[in-house]
This record gives sequence, structure tokens and C-alpha cells, in this order.
Amino acid sequence: MLKTYFVFIFFISSLSNHAFAADGKAIHDEKCLSCHQTEVYTRTDHKVTSLYGLGRQVSMCSQNLNTGWFPEDEKSVVKYLNDTFYHLKK
Ligand code: HEC
Repeated sequence: MLKTYFVFIFFISSLSNHAFAADGKAIHDEKCLSCHQTEVYTRTDHKVTSLYGLGRQVSMCSQNLNTGWFPEDEKSVVKYLNDTFYHLKK
């Protein structure tokens, strides 16, 4: 009986970790501000010039950092960065 209860709790908490899209800003701010601040995205000579490039860069930094992010997490960070800083159309 107790065991069933724990399995149930585990099930619920794994749902809440992965079933909903992560909050891009929250996970970005948690992991991504140790090497650079957000100025790196807005400096005049910033490197990222396409959504494709943004995706690659987020992926690269995320892997270097061993974030353990899922592809959906990376996507929500890309969306947050693009909506907030880059405003790239493609
Ligand atoms: C280990 C250090 C480090 C961490 C942590 C880090 N980055 Fe970076 N990031 C860099 C470096 C170095 C550059 C390149 C800066 C340059 O070229 O001057 C960079 C550049 C970038 C750029 C490109 C900026 C531009 O020029 O347009 C993006 C986007 C970016 N990082 C996203 C992220 C994200 C998202 C995370 C969190 C997963 C993250 N970074 C965490 C080191 C890091």
C-alpha cells in the first residue's frame, strides 16, 4: 500500500518535470549567466544572426555546461532569447 503511494508520487513528479514546456527564462537564468551576462546577446558585434545559429549556439553552450536539458528545454530557451533579445525572423 505504502509502495503504491510512492510510485504514484514519483509518477506525478516526473509528469510535472517533463510534461509541460519548461520556462525558458527561468532555466536560462539558472544555468546560463555564469560565464556571460545577457549583454553577450545584445552587443553590437554579436555572433548569432539566424534562428538556426541561435539554436546551435544554445545547444553548444548547453552541452559544454552539461545542463541535462531536453530538446524541448533548449527550444524554450531559444524562444526566450529570440523573443527578448534577438528578434530574428528566420
Ligand atoms: C562555460 C561558459 C559558458 C556558459 C556557462 C554559457 N556560455 Fe554561452 N557563450 C560562452 C562563450 C565563450 C561565448 C562566445 C562569446 C564570444 O564569442 O565572445 C558564448 C556565446 C553565447 C551566445 C552567442 C552570443 C552572440 O554573440 O550572439 C549565446 C546565444 C549563448 N552563449 C547562449 C548560452 C546559453 C543559452 C547558455 C546556458 C545553457 C550559455 N550560453 C552558457 C560561454 C558560455
